[in-house]
Amino acid sequence: MINAPKGTKDLLPEESYKWQYVEDIARKTAGLFGANEIRTPTFEHTEVFSRGVGEGTDIVNKEMYTFLDKGGRSITLKPEGTAGVARAFNENGLFNSALPQKLFYITQCFRYERPQAGRLREFHQFGIEFIGSKTADIDAEAIVLAHTFFSALSVTGLTLYINSIGCKNCRGAYEKALKEYLRENIKNLCPLCETRFEKNPLRILDCKNEQCKKITANAPQILDYICDDCKEHFETLKRLLDVAKVPYKINPFIVRGLDYYTKTVFEFVSDNVGAQGTICGGGRYDGLVEQLGGASTPGIGFAMGIERLMLLLNNLNVQIPNNNRIKLYIAPFGDENAYNVAFNIAMALRQKGVVTEIDHMNRGIKAQFKYADKIGAEYVLVLGGNEIDSGVAKIKRMIDGEEITLSLNEVVNYFN
Ligand code: HAM
Repeated sequence: MINAPKGTKDLLPEESYKWQYVEDIARKTAGLFGANEIRTPTFEHTEVFSRGVGEGTDIVNKEMYTFLDKGGRSITLKPEGTAGVARAFNENGLFNSALPQKLFYITQCFRYERPQAGRLREFHQFGIEFIGSKTADIDAEAIVLAHTFFSALSVTGLTLYINSIGCKNCRGAYEKALKEYLRENIKNLCPLCETRFEKNPLRILDCKNEQCKKITANAPQILDYICDDCKEHFETLKRLLDVAKVPYKINPFIVRGLDYYTKTVFEFVSDNVGAQGTICGGGRYDGLVEQLGGASTPGIGFAMGIERLMLLLNNLNVQIPNNNRIKLYIAPFGDENAYNVAFNIAMALRQKGVVTEIDHMNRGIKAQFKYADKIGAEYVLVLGGNEIDSGVAKIKRMIDGEEITLSLNEVVNYFN
């Protein structure tokens, strides 16, 4: 037997209806905020991510699925959605349309990480990117969108953490202060943070290593270093989140793992799913579009891992309706003509949009009832010689066994 590669998962029918439900709410919620869907390729030229996400990040350094194609080009399976969307924004001249461009996507992503609950090598993100506006109100709107989506799914117990990591004008001063503070402890940092010290000192702040956490506990805080413009931006964001009644906590240790962020960063975190508690992460990226060859264009967005979200919904016991449920199972037997009639009724019902199933295994009548029960059919219609001759049949409601007698001509009208 051949197994699926490590870190990948089959999505089986017993789960897929839940995904359809969640994706449907994602599309509807994004639509309510004026966002339209964008689909970018599964793979991009590697430089989209090395330049976009950043050379110093774990994603680019360690986690990308990169290979040379048969034409010798370096290709990478997308580890996230934002850089590809920014590339598409530039390439397709979306900057010529009315701004902001409000976009959303549901896509698979690939990261070579150590698999564990809520962490896969192929996973899926629902994300949004609002490109073209630099105002803090659109940051608030992005966060409110995520909050609205979680509420629509009855997700509870999430904490929203927000922070500002400043802009290119003020980040330097903070990095300098942080490095000065950390310098005497470089040797006590974990090996990864030791390498981050020069290239990406901010990332040391969200290291999960206990020793690193201890060292950074009293580090200087970025909010004390950001410039007036970034400060005002952050104040407006907080005010609008208050207006929208979206609760949040300011957390100076939220710095995010991708290089493109500026000003606002945020995460929705759950303590209901184990170690991988960040369900959704995002922030502003005012330099990304330019970094990928476009004109200087601000942007903000987020992405959430759908597998993590499904894990959370499961742990919270959120009931998800199965809209694919079989309404009527038709059980023809005995009479040769019965299958013709059953087939006709099934076709007419499906044309009306009623989910209908029919026997395909030549089962006896008892086995057919067993099967109908197994597939969760709501009603069963039995069609044997007697029913065909009399033109009258019984429909059984499976939940309580109640039977309704109907003329065969009325069956199609009975369901809607
Ligand atoms: P990220 O924090 O790298 O941000 O990923 C966003 C979410 O994707 C995470 O919070 C998590 O739920 C999910 N995720 C990440 N890696 C895995 C994995 N290996 N297995 C399962 N789920 C995973 C971004 O990707 C940014 N592009 C978000 C963004 C959009 N920022 C601005 N716009």
